[in-house]
Formats: sequence, structure tokens, C-alpha cells
Amino acid sequence: MTVRPSERALKAAAAVSEERLWARLMEMARYGARPDGGVCRQALTPEDRAARRVFVERARERGYAVSVDPAANLFVRRDGGGNRSAILTGSHMDSQPAGGRFDGIYGVLAGLEAIDAIGDAGIALPRPIEVVAWTNEEGGRFAPGAMGSMAWSGHTPLEAFHDVTDADGTRFVDALEETLAAEADLDRRPLGGRPHAYLEAHIEQGPVLERDGVDLAAVTGIQGWRWFRVEVTGRGAHAGTTPLAGRRDALQAAVRAIEALNRLMADPDDVVRFTVGRMVVEPNSPNTVPERVVFTIDFRHPDLDALTRLGDRIPEVVAGAVRPCEAEVVETTANPPNRFPETIVSLVEQCARALGHSVTRLPSGAFHDASFVASVCPTGMIFVPCRDGISHHPDEYAEPHHLAAGARTLTAALVTLAEGDD
Ligand code: HGY
Ligand code: MN
Ligand code: MN
Repeated sequence: MTVRPSERALKAAAAVSEERLWARLMEMARYGARPDGGVCRQALTPEDRAARRVFVERARERGYAVSVDPAANLFVRRDGGGNRSAILTGSHMDSQPAGGRFDGIYGVLAGLEAIDAIGDAGIALPRPIEVVAWTNEEGGRFAPGAMGSMAWSGHTPLEAFHDVTDADGTRFVDALEETLAAEADLDRRPLGGRPHAYLEAHIEQGPVLERDGVDLAAVTGIQGWRWFRVEVTGRGAHAGTTPLAGRRDALQAAVRAIEALNRLMADPDDVVRFTVGRMVVEPNSPNTVPERVVFTIDFRHPDLDALTRLGDRIPEVVAGAVRPCEAEVVETTANPPNRFPETIVSLVEQCARALGHSVTRLPSGAFHDASFVASVCPTGMIFVPCRDGISHHPDEYAEPHHLAAGARTLTAALVTLAEGDD
């Protein structure tokens, strides 16, 4: 199905301001700014709250309605005719602890730029457009990631996340309530919804677009992922007086488990993604044999069978490797691979081409809130190139003209979706 963007869609796209978008991105980069040029704006922290407040102010300056749901998902609404369901766009404002200036926040500000451009072009639409900032997409502070969109989509009840704690022992529910209290001036809205469609703009977080010299990607889908928490329990002891024979060293056991998992996940085609990103050692003293180790597993694969087969073996492989220590393996979140509907993927392609941009199709190695929104309505994503494919790192960078090309394509696609049939 070839959906060509209308003249109105192209007129709205032409009103996108590269300068305004870049200025807002650099303004947001100040919230949680790191000395190395990156950003640490973790979910529901004071820095995140300050950035959310700026987003609210920019929205209110344009007369948009702003509301927040019980998961602190933040919505900015540009009203349209009648009571038809909204077209939804957006992404997340939280970052990794050593994050960049574009991951997530670009999609939120591209959405804001789109509705501003539609207004600047004087275009009235038969549907409202909403821009959402999803809560805790990254999961760096409170694991797992995508809590806001998982709760909104019904994938996981919000209450299931309440007692998740961060490294300081703060519970998610307490940080959530503190954020909602700071936003008592915002309208409340219930969790959930049925938008007509959802489209998210995001940096690619990979090297393909830059390597191939292509402006944009119409994202075809998102690979599946499974996160696990592994707790290894041994017996603390004196490092100097305890013979190696008979020790129950939780750290040595964790190392054996990770080596065994590396063997399980070995893939000559390099399709498997297996990462141990966090490890906590207790009591974490140079001269005490470690009693307890907790480490995380982030396992991803584009094929559901492989994701199931390999992921299901993780508990037994860990148990066998840690003896004589014990291990508890808990799967904290999982989502199967998904494919976005052809109608949305080809709409993104058509809009990009109509605006004179080169475009290709790419799957996403990273997960996104779109993974969960896709279970509620027709969903898609637009990728823009990022330098050297770097992301989740302070060196993350994207060119202003690519960011603007993505925002123009997003704008044309949102208008086309808004004008489309029910
Ligand atoms: O981890 C991810 O894939 C996402 O970038 N948070
Ligand atoms: Mn992201
Ligand atoms: Mn990310």
C-alpha cells in the first residue's frame, strides 16, 4: 500500500525548524550535563524532573494541554477536530548514567517540533496529535527499562515495579510519587489509551546509516530481549587464613557462571547480543572472600526460537557453574521480537522520499517504548544516523540536518496519519 503524503503534510514538514529543534536539544542537554559532554538524567531524579518541567513549559507556551498518568508518562496534546483518537508520537527523556544528548530526548523534541510546525504552517487536522515522554525507558536506575510504556500498554501492571530499588535503596514507587507530587499542577489522565497510531523518531544507535551514507531508516521491527538478575551466594571468609580448598567464593563462582554463559551464547554469526553490564560484590573488601554477588544479564535476539531456546537454558547453566555456591536466577523482563506493520513502514519511506531524503529499511537492535505501544496500535519508528553508531556513551552525536530530516519526515507522516481513514 503506497500512501503518498498530502500537500498539507509536505507544507507542515517544510515548517520544521532545524534551529529550534537543535536549540531545544542543547537546552535539554543541560539537565544532567556531565563534564565529558554526555548526560546523566536517570529516571525520576531531580535532573529528570527539571527537564520534564522545561518540556511542560515549552508546551504551555504554545497552548498545548499537558497531562500525566499514574506511571508519570507525560503527554502534550495538540487538539484536533472532533473526538477521534489521537495520533501519538514521542519517546523518553531519561538517559543512561553515562548517556548521550540524543537517545530518547530526540524523539520527544522531534514530536514537539512536529506539532509546532503543523501550527506554524496553519494546518488544522481532524485528529489530535499527542507527544509522550515515557517514564524510565532506560532501566539504568530502576530495572527493567520501559516501565512507563509497559504499564501503559498493559504488558506489566505498574504495581509490579513498585518495590524495585535503585543502588541507594530508593523504591521506584517513592520516586514515582515524588515526581507526581512535583507535577501536581498537571492534569491527571488514566493509564492506557488507544491511539490511532504511534510513530517514534530515534537515533539509530548503530553504524549502518552513517556507513551507507543514508539519511533515514524506516524501522522494520525490534529484536526480542530477556533480562535476568542472578544472585550468587557463597560464604564470606578471611582472605588470609581460609584455604582455597573448600572456599565458597561467590565472585569466583560468578566468573565461572559468566564463562559458561559465554560458551552457551557463542555465535559465529555474531547475531546474539549477550551483556553482563552490572555486578555488585559483597562485602566488596580486598581481604574478605566474597559472600554474595549480584549480576545482570541482557540477552537479545531477532529470532523468537533462539531467544527462547538459549534464554531458557540460562538458569541451568548458571546453577551448574556456581557449585558449591548457590544461585538464584530471576527473569525481570522479556519481550518477543516484533515487526511493525507494512503500512507504517512504507508510510515513513514515502514521506522521506517525498521530502528528498534517502531512506532504507532497518531492524532495531535497541529496544524502545515502541516495542510495547506496538501491541496497542499500528506503530513504527524513524531512525536518523548517529556518529560512529555510538550511543549509551557521552560521545553520542547526531548532525542537526539529520535530526531535522527525521523531524520533517515524522511531521509529514503524522499529518498523513491524522488525515487518514479511521
Ligand atoms: O537498551 C536499549 O536497547 C535501549 O536503548 N534502552
Ligand atoms: Mn532510547
Ligand atoms: Mn537507550
